[in-house]
Amino acid sequence: GEDAVAILKESGLDQVQLVQLDVTNQDSINAAVATVKQRFGKLDILVNNAGILGGWDQKAVSVKTEVIREVFDTNFFGVINVTQAFLDLLRKSERPRINNITSGLGSLTLHTNPDWDHYDVKTGAYGPSKTALNAYSVVLAYELKDDNFKVNVIDPGYTATDFNDHQGGLSV
Ligand SMILES: NC(=O)c1ccc[n+]([C@@H]2O[C@H](COP(=O)([O-])OP(=O)(O)OC[C@H]3O[C@@H](n4cnc5c(N)ncnc54)[C@H](OP(=O)(O)O)[C@@H]3O)[C@@H](O)[C@H]2O)c1
Repeated sequence: GEDAVAILKESGLDQVQLVQLDVTNQDSINAAVATVKQRFGKLDILVNNAGILGGWDQKAVSVKTEVIREVFDTNFFGVINVTQAFLDLLRKSERPRINNITSGLGSLTLHTNPDWDHYDVKTGAYGPSKTALNAYSVVLAYELKDDNFKVNVIDPGYTATDFNDHQGGLSV
């Protein structure tokens, strides 16, 4: 985290600060909320970016449910716990935003289109975790629609990051 802050500061973003957060640990989430509250008193944008793949051994016919649970803990339940914990601070913003980072691999529409570029990239744990995230986000957006919130799901596309050993075709 400190390395990332240093890189961002070098690029000119001089107000970047580090807050430690493990989205699978409620104590860690609560501590992050307390830190943001103490430093800023509100939160304008929550970007739920944390995500894990769970390895490539995730065929639907054989994937261990433990793997599915682990992936859902971060990609789905993590987002829900973090979002609910930060809601009070978000409500203090004039225009609160929640951006949930999803994936094309979570799209049921794309997965049933044989012409889609990534049609053959089927994952029994990761994709379903993002499908569930999309569904939760629609409900969340509906519930917050009269409260000045915008809730977005964002698919970055196949991007070169640690996630895929920098094989993705897009740059960060
Ligand atoms: N790269 C792609 O092609 C692609 C395509 C579609 C969607 N996405 C999505 O984009 C998002 C970002 O992924 P990325 O490509 O940037 O992958 P990445 O380089 O592996 O980054 C994932 C980030 O998630 C963090 N993380 C993992 N588990 C966490 C936890 N329990 N608590 C807090 N942070 C946690 C990691 O933190 P540490 O480094 O500290 O572990 C890391 O910073 C993910 O949601 C991913 O599903 C990526």
